[in-house]
Amino acid sequence: MPDTKKRDKKKPAATMSNTATLAIVIMAAGKGTRLKSKRPKVLHEIGGKPLITYVVAAARQFAPAHDIYVIVGHEAASVRAAVESTDVQFVLQVEQRGTGHAIMCARSQVEGYDNILVLSGDVPLICPQTIAGLRDFHLAQEAAMTILTAAAPDPSGYGRVIRASRSSSRVKAIVEQKDLTRAQQHVREINTGIYAFATRPLFANIGKLTTRNAQGEFYLTDMASALVAAKAPVVALRADDPAEVLGANTLAELAHLDAELRSRKCSALMAEGVTIYRPETCVIDSDVEITADTVIEPFVQILGQSRIGSDCRIRSYTIISDSQIAEHVQVRPGCIIDQAHISAHAVVGPYAHLRPGSKIGEGAHVGNFVETKKTKLGRGSKANHLTYLGDAEIGDGVNVGAGAITCNFDGVNKYVTVIEDGAFIGSDATLVAPVRVGKGAYVAAGSCITHDVPADSLAFGRARQEIKEGWAKQRREKTTKK
Ligand code: UD1
Ligand code: CA
Repeated sequence: MPDTKKRDKKKPAATMSNTATLAIVIMAAGKGTRLKSKRPKVLHEIGGKPLITYVVAAARQFAPAHDIYVIVGHEAASVRAAVESTDVQFVLQVEQRGTGHAIMCARSQVEGYDNILVLSGDVPLICPQTIAGLRDFHLAQEAAMTILTAAAPDPSGYGRVIRASRSSSRVKAIVEQKDLTRAQQHVREINTGIYAFATRPLFANIGKLTTRNAQGEFYLTDMASALVAAKAPVVALRADDPAEVLGANTLAELAHLDAELRSRKCSALMAEGVTIYRPETCVIDSDVEITADTVIEPFVQILGQSRIGSDCRIRSYTIISDSQIAEHVQVRPGCIIDQAHISAHAVVGPYAHLRPGSKIGEGAHVGNFVETKKTKLGRGSKANHLTYLGDAEIGDGVNVGAGAITCNFDGVNKYVTVIEDGAFIGSDATLVAPVRVGKGAYVAAGSCITHDVPADSLAFGRARQEIKEGWAKQRREKTTKK
């Protein structure tokens, strides 16, 4: 039974249009056999996040967490972990014997509510407005069961909704794909797997479900004919946008949902003033934030919890994940930026690799074939060519020459290189950490620096050049005589 005391204190938003109480049940216990994957279906990702997180987020838009029940079973612990932070409730379906059985398992937790809305963990694009529309229609119709349907361009694989007549909202039955008769195969109206039920007739009749069907499971869909037989009203509401209620039973369908979600994401960003050339080529995760007047060129990926400020230009073939980029930053083609932070007016790339913990200062330049890791590059500093900077603290106005590297690893431990403000590191210098180059100091090109360099000094750490006059000429003469 639900904790009614708790619910009385904070009236759920879901019941605003009516005083009837409402629970949301999300079915997510299945294995997803048709995906042929070790991972449970609802943990497969679209837009960079598991399917189940979208359904929970949609439910959370209009019902408090304590009225949302997620049914878990296959790999229950990992499914739980994916949404636990939202504080929703869980129902354990130990054996997965079908969608009807899933609801039987939730009975003791939800039968105290007046109505329940049932969502599918593998139908992730559902909008809160559509769920609210279903609830309102269900309450207005005083139905025992209301089925959200859609006119699918390709109905194969879905259960079909058999209406009492063409113009009627009354439903006679839902027939699963595998159980369709020849005549029923022409029905294009599909069951979305999303329903509203009046709790009392649902649980009064749920015992009538049987496993006498093609899959030997208790089908929740059979509640339609069971309720009709009990003279309880069963109605259908057609969703406006069939794309919103598509399921993911195969990896091809999952890819389709992912593309649909990302296309919506690009449209939303463009509507907010972000320029995206050829959006169909860009892969932008759901949670990414980009401010107006930034330009995203074709074939860019922006993933995870990345944030990009205004007036940036992200050029083609760049992959940015979990990174923060301020305003007026230029990221040239082919960069990989992972868990990094880039300040305003910086220029990065082409072909730069900013690894976790890279902090690029305001107006700094990181050029081609430069790799940084756990490194702070100060304001206006430059490392323009072929450099590795790992575990380094680099001050402001520092110039790091081509090919210079920090040697941060002795095979066992990592050490820090400090380069103070205004220092100049000549090309091909190797700085063997732990080591410090003082303010304004110069390190000569080709040096191997193993000792600290005092401020304002010049350090040479290389063999002196020797000249052997005439050596080459003599050699030529010797070899031609032979
Ligand atoms: C279901 C419907 C079908 C509808 C389709 C819409 C049934 C019998 N069929 O079919 O009419 O067109 O959804 O997408 O309901 N689940 C459990 N426990 C179980 C079995 C499934 O929690 O024992 C969960 C799954 O994890 C999944 C959801 O219920 O999230 C739907 O199950 P699935 O096997 O995908 O049903 P479909 O065959 O797609
Ligand atoms: Ca499904």
